[in-house]
Amino acid sequence: MKVVGIDTSCDDTAVAVYDAEENRILSNVVSSQYEAHRVYGGVVPEIAAREHLKNIDIIFNEALERAEIGVADIDLVAVTYTPGLLPALLVGLTFGKGVAFAEYIPFKGVHHIEAHMFSPFIEKEPEFPFLSLVVSGGHTMISLVRSLGNYKLLGKTLDDAIGEAFDKVAKMLGLGYPGGPVIDKIFQNYRESYLVLPRPQARGVNMSFSGLKTAVRRLIEGGYSKEMIAASFQKTAIDYVIGKLRKAVRETGIRRISVSGGVSANSYLRKRLKELEYSERVKVFLPEMQFTSDNGAMIAYVGYLRFRKAEGIGDPFTLNAYPSLPITGV
Ligand code: KG4
Ligand code: ZN
Repeated sequence: MKVVGIDTSCDDTAVAVYDAEENRILSNVVSSQYEAHRVYGGVVPEIAAREHLKNIDIIFNEALERAEIGVADIDLVAVTYTPGLLPALLVGLTFGKGVAFAEYIPFKGVHHIEAHMFSPFIEKEPEFPFLSLVVSGGHTMISLVRSLGNYKLLGKTLDDAIGEAFDKVAKMLGLGYPGGPVIDKIFQNYRESYLVLPRPQARGVNMSFSGLKTAVRRLIEGGYSKEMIAASFQKTAIDYVIGKLRKAVRETGIRRISVSGGVSANSYLRKRLKELEYSERVKVFLPEMQFTSDNGAMIAYVGYLRFRKAEGIGDPFTLNAYPSLPITGV
């Protein structure tokens, strides 16, 4: 069974092909729009939609070509329908429905965050229950995953997402967009001491990142170097998330952890997670680098898992796109 996964939720046009029998991603094509948004220092929804519209059929064809399949070989179309930028989501969703309708094949709407949660298990098999930490540009949350579609939210950010904080801090320091990879690079080359930033306050496993921005603004005014501020910010933000994850492990006693989303590419986060594996005797599952940021592979994979669980029943073509929606049960 060949599954095509499409994601146009934000600023990446992404299409992948997944072979369910072989449990293998045959192709994973992502076209980034960084250039189109760079001058604005953030993603502009209408520009994102226009870029998706320009690229979607090119990326779709390229994904099929690399997978060495034709349109007639597709058995399921999986598309992100929520959450994301509405005009951007609509491009991928409408395109996916069009392919499914024209080829008489089932179609499945996929929740983008659920797809991130399962991205460490692509080409493997998830083992339940596990804890999931999603750290992306739009979300920061820790949940208990009992099975596909059965989740308990343990904590989330009460203000900015962690990736958003990276992007905003980079903008304040004049480092460009997207900020995460730039700050991470500075951190990796940084050899001096760290500044102490106030730890954000949020109860339990909940998190908060907006206070770090204010702290960074003060440090900029204080005349510290960009490198010192960027590296100190990364250290504080990541140490903070690790502390929350440790709390969730101790509260639930669950020792399998999936960590996903754009920020899961962060080198210091990955180092701290390795340490956590030893200190808390847990097993951490991370996505391959190509599956950390938005991609079609995770959409195809979760689309397939849900399709299988629904015994081969797809979604109706009336399924709409939504800027934000909770994950539905199965
Ligand atoms: O998951 P993602 O691609 O998109 C959303 O669904 O939001 O995450 C994008 C976020 C951006 O904020 C970007 O700055 C951040 O991931 N990011 C990183 C790194 N690579 C990407 N943040 C920290 N360190 C990185 N190495
Ligand atoms: Zn994402």
